[in-house]
Amino acid sequence: MNIKETKKIANKIFGWLSDREGELLFNLAKNCKGRGVIVEIGSCNGRSTVWLASGSKSGNKVKIYAIDPHSTPSKHQKGKRNKSFEEFKKNIKNAGVDDIIIPIVKTSEEAAKTFNKPVELIFIDGDHKYESVKLDFDLWFPKVINGGIMAFHDTLSWPGPKKVVDNFVYKSKHFKNVKFVDSITFAQKVEQNTLRDRIKNRYVLLLKKISELASKLHLSEPIKDIGKEIIKTLQK
Ligand SMILES: C[S@@+](CC[C@H](N)C(=O)[O-])C[C@H]1O[C@@H](n2cnc3c(N)ncnc32)[C@H](O)[C@@H]1O
Repeated sequence: MNIKETKKIANKIFGWLSDREGELLFNLAKNCKGRGVIVEIGSCNGRSTVWLASGSKSGNKVKIYAIDPHSTPSKHQKGKRNKSFEEFKKNIKNAGVDDIIIPIVKTSEEAAKTFNKPVELIFIDGDHKYESVKLDFDLWFPKVINGGIMAFHDTLSWPGPKKVVDNFVYKSKHFKNVKFVDSITFAQKVEQNTLRDRIKNRYVLLLKKISELASKLHLSEPIKDIGKEIIKTLQK
């Protein structure tokens, strides 16, 4: 599936990921070389998983480990108390990407205890409390290979993910090329970044702060889109 086809399918799955964020996940997964696997923390009904898996299938078909305890009822099945795992399985099968997804029905913490594969790309979108996101970071950062990518959802307006990436990604000595697309912050892990990398990361953090302020203004959608294009250009 190409991006257009994936968008059609992913948008039918209940979730919070924007099209821009989906395309980013698609491309990050497509670029994986197979030096490690892809991990997702917080799959829910599979919207982001389908984007990742579809991108991976367009590239080197790197396996995706989709971690979620699936212990909350599927939101659009009001009253039925269905767990999201049933919905997840149905959605990845319908999308034709179930062959490269390995679901792990555990919390990130439980899964990390026995997970021993090198990770080339991780997307963190689980519990959004600061302590939980920080724990996800601490548990999974060591498993990511140098050159691998860490991506975090909801880093603009959610206090938990925002504080984690601001302090431990943008200001870290172990990441370069930190960028953001809509609410996703993503960065490449390195043994040690350079002064130039650190200055660039701080510059992108400044752009993120401007976006955070702008998101609080009641701007029209076309104006927001123009702003996002400008921010994208400024990050190049
Ligand atoms: C915001 S939703 C994920 C949305 C999904 N990525 C998408 O694109 O639609 C958060 C998910 O994190 C899961 N979750 C909560 N705590 C978790 C934990 N400790 N480890 C892994 N997943 C967790 C929840 O079950 C829920 O399905």
